[in-house]
Amino acid sequence: MNTHINRAVSSAPAKVILFGEHFVVYNNPAIVAAINRRIRVSAQLNDMSRVNIKSGENSLCVPVNSNDSDILSHDNSSISLFPIFKCVKHVFEEKNLVNVGVNLEIESQIPHGEGLGSSAASCVSTVAALYSLFSDLDKNQIYETARLMEQNIHTNSSGVDCYVSTFGGIVNFEPEKGFSKIRPKKKFTLLIGTSGIKHSTGKVVSQVRQFRQKNSSFFDDLSAKAHLICKKAISSMNEGNESELGSLLTENHNLLSILGVSHPEIEKLIKICLDNGALGAKLTGAGKGGAVIALIPNDSSKEILAKISRGPGKWILVEFDYDGVIPV
Ligand code: PMV
Repeated sequence: MNTHINRAVSSAPAKVILFGEHFVVYNNPAIVAAINRRIRVSAQLNDMSRVNIKSGENSLCVPVNSNDSDILSHDNSSISLFPIFKCVKHVFEEKNLVNVGVNLEIESQIPHGEGLGSSAASCVSTVAALYSLFSDLDKNQIYETARLMEQNIHTNSSGVDCYVSTFGGIVNFEPEKGFSKIRPKKKFTLLIGTSGIKHSTGKVVSQVRQFRQKNSSFFDDLSAKAHLICKKAISSMNEGNESELGSLLTENHNLLSILGVSHPEIEKLIKICLDNGALGAKLTGAGKGGAVIALIPNDSSKEILAKISRGPGKWILVEFDYDGVIPV
């Protein structure tokens, strides 16, 4: 076995969709940013040919040669670690590892199931820690493998979550053109509020598909508006125009509400943001629960956070992350 170290630790950031969710499924752009909340994975080889994964309350301890159906017959807490198991299998097969296993410990600062990219960040961080056992980090290789593995969770994933978690930064994703980085002229501060209502991306995406089938020309109008919002958002970031960027967030949220993917709790959180000095706010991710993002002025971020935190939701101040996955 050609490992060059026995234990490696990596960390990868969460993400928020700033603009364009749902419309991106139908060939429109989306703008996605890595944020400074991370998942850290430590990988240590063992000589018992077992994969032992621990992540908060969840754990999975199985022989390395287990097949998919063995894992999927476990309880839900273990099944949630299936994509991580797939990452191990993939890297072990690629590296021809035999008679060896791995202990993985996953620590997360990212709430799960609220549209903040926790599954992508855990795949990216796991793959990075595993590859680090053999060689220095190669981000292109990490991205390609993590993207394949994340498809065990989101079958039709665009790969954008894994992309921003691997490379960091703010990315404009256009399904037919790929990824391009946006470099904003100034620092923007975001507030993220989680509703605690977990969503299933697959279910919400299929509700939108039905909406589109029933209202095809109306959906096209909404898509054209969403597309234009993304274009304007790139200019406002390039110019450092935070009040325009804030208004665009709210405009994008209104389109998502029309699509039917908001939720009364999300509407409540957005109103609280707008009533307390946010420059704009929207749901982020699939919707029907999950999280909201609000753009707030850099110089009054702490005061606004204090006011907003008195109401419902759990709130954190975040900044964009430009590092992506890193060795720790
Ligand atoms: O909630 P999330 O992070 O799974 O985001 C889903 C984004 C959608 O545009 C709704 C679906 C997709 O595959 O792009």
